[in-house]
Amino acid sequence: MNELDALVDSARAAFAQATTPADLENAKAQYMGKAGRITELMKGMAALPVDEKKTRGAAINLAKQAIESALTDRRQALADAELQIQLKAEALDVTLPGRQRGQGGLHPVSLTLERIEAIFGSMGFEVAEGPEIESDWFNFTALNTPEDHPARSMHDTFYVEGGSEKAPNLLRTHTSPMQIRHAVQHVKRHRAALDAGQPMPEIRVIAPGRTYRVDSDATHSPMFHQCEGLWVGENVSFKDLKFVFTDFCRTFFESNDLVLRFRPSFFPFTEPSAEIDIQFQSGPLAGRWLEVAGSGQVHPNVVRNMGLDPEKYIGFAFGMGPDRLTMLRYGVNDLRLFFDGDVRFLAQFR
Ligand code: DAH
Repeated sequence: MNELDALVDSARAAFAQATTPADLENAKAQYMGKAGRITELMKGMAALPVDEKKTRGAAINLAKQAIESALTDRRQALADAELQIQLKAEALDVTLPGRQRGQGGLHPVSLTLERIEAIFGSMGFEVAEGPEIESDWFNFTALNTPEDHPARSMHDTFYVEGGSEKAPNLLRTHTSPMQIRHAVQHVKRHRAALDAGQPMPEIRVIAPGRTYRVDSDATHSPMFHQCEGLWVGENVSFKDLKFVFTDFCRTFFESNDLVLRFRPSFFPFTEPSAEIDIQFQSGPLAGRWLEVAGSGQVHPNVVRNMGLDPEKYIGFAFGMGPDRLTMLRYGVNDLRLFFDGDVRFLAQFR
């Protein structure tokens, strides 16, 4: 092997050893730099006779070209390697599952309340809300349940100091006080028309909300929900209540295959009173009577406490349990699950 071929080989080897662009530039300087080997060879030609200069010059040029091309190749190889490393570092695995933001949702009982409001809303019922800390008057007395009435013992609750028509003193045991509160406001709003002997627009309202009792087991929670309904006018009858409530239940449970039973019962604020039971004709609950609401014709004393003449106005009321409706709709068997705040349970209703 001649000296020039050996030089080219040693340059290739030096370039191959360079693992960074800086190393490579240093290696290059040893061959092509001012004091590099090729430069030295060129300088050495000056002393040669003319005819030798030609062949020697051509041979050196070839060697120089070979070294230059080895350098270019190595530069490219190092740049490629660099790019590969970078690509690897920035690799994006499009098959990985995306990072998701935790998504919230409405509580199942809230979904039921929304549903109740939408259905009754479509039947011309307003939605009213009232205080959870209520007075003795609205919660009991105005609803025909005087202080010594035995029905009060079924509504044991949490009491606070105070107590008068104006001073709230207990956590309401049902949403029925909203019957009085709403009716009184309604009558006030239409006072002028009433005094002028004009007809009063019917009261048609539902009042959903939280209620409280001293009760706690798989089907009772000290805090639970109720939704009151009230329909008062000059020409309302039990058949209207029956129609509206039947329509509500069938819409709520999305089943025309559902029958209702109005079972005689007692409530101080209605006379006559009925418990409303429903029965599915198919599905997992088929054949069982399930109690969903209390109802009745508003007692004349209560109509009077609304500021209306019971000889002229007649009303129908109902009170249902949205918690119970939610359990039936989704097949939940323990009421406490709704109030434990376990996200694994709640997330199923998103
Ligand atoms: N307030 C009653 C309760 O909590 C339920 C109820 C019964 C409401 C009959 C009514 C009604 O409006 O007419 O047990």
